[in-house]
Amino acid sequence: MPHSDELLWGAVGDISRLAALLTMAELGVADHLADGPLGSAELARRCGADPAALRRVLRELAAMDLLRPAGQDAYDLAPRGAALRSDVPDSVRSSIRMLGEESFWYAMGMLPATVRDGDSAFIKRYGHLYDHLAANPAVSAMFDDYMKRRALPFTEGLVKAYTFPPAATMVDVAGGKGHILATVLHANPQMRGVLMDLEHVTGQAERTFAEEGLADRTQVVAGDFFAGVPAGGDVYLLASVLHNWDDADSVTILSNIRRAMNPGGRVLVLEVVLPDDAAPHLGKDIDLRMLAIFNGGAERTRDEYAALLGQADLGLADVVDLGSGASLIEARPL
Ligand SMILES: C[S@@+](CC[C@H](N)C(=O)[O-])C[C@H]1O[C@@H](n2cnc3c(N)ncnc32)[C@H](O)[C@@H]1O
Repeated sequence: MPHSDELLWGAVGDISRLAALLTMAELGVADHLADGPLGSAELARRCGADPAALRRVLRELAAMDLLRPAGQDAYDLAPRGAALRSDVPDSVRSSIRMLGEESFWYAMGMLPATVRDGDSAFIKRYGHLYDHLAANPAVSAMFDDYMKRRALPFTEGLVKAYTFPPAATMVDVAGGKGHILATVLHANPQMRGVLMDLEHVTGQAERTFAEEGLADRTQVVAGDFFAGVPAGGDVYLLASVLHNWDDADSVTILSNIRRAMNPGGRVLVLEVVLPDDAAPHLGKDIDLRMLAIFNGGAERTRDEYAALLGQADLGLADVVDLGSGASLIEARPL
């Protein structure tokens, strides 16, 4: 067990390592090294960077085993660093750029101010995240890529661990690019799907379903889940949605689903459920991002989810561990 001082200063060093990682993603270092090693001056020229400044970042990236020294003042991509190439399957480049994007970085840097007055500094400066994304298409595209990347392990767990009712229609409420619904439909060929999201996102979902050969089993609907959700579904999925909203807004979304669902339907809430203990947990990390970016958005414990569901006339039926820190909460009408 490291000494507590090491843990403390390790966390401080994490800021420099994260900044180096963000620089690597933003400047496309991995793409420029995809064909083999380069000297740092040539790499700087290709990245459009200052050579002396980049050299110092490269040194840190090599210490993180993302790059490997390849002779005098030259670097090659290490296997770990290859995930930052734009052209590899499930590339993390766009996700990391999103986390380092000015507004997200600002939100975390301003956490002390947010905590002091209980009001998100992010919202004061950029407005609500989803309005900010609607007004900034380039950031929105990175955000949607980030959501897709982040959902990958959860989605794999979902299709392995959960038995969907045969021939059901699933409504993916705020389904983003359609990555989760597509995986569920591929694994359950008799099911049909409806994806609902904000208008500036639905085009991406349509493209996903067309590319995946699922256009004839899916319907994409633009809408606002505070106004209502598509009716007639047997399964309603809310994946990484409720943690963006306070209890009152979450109950509104759940109540709209409760009203719209077929008799005997179910609601699936995919979230990182907070443990009640003091152990390190992914949910505690993500919760601070929710705190920084949303007023009232939060990760919740099992009991807190049960209470929310109850307010929408839904009962918590089961919690299934999906691996990778996420859980599936199944709810049924009370
Ligand atoms: C955190 S993302 C989750 C996306 C997807 N479910 C997933 O797990 O990858 C939240 C989604 O909520 C959508 N959203 C936000 N406000 C909404 C609203 N009022 N009505 C419908 N969708 C909304 C966003 O556009 C975004 O796609």
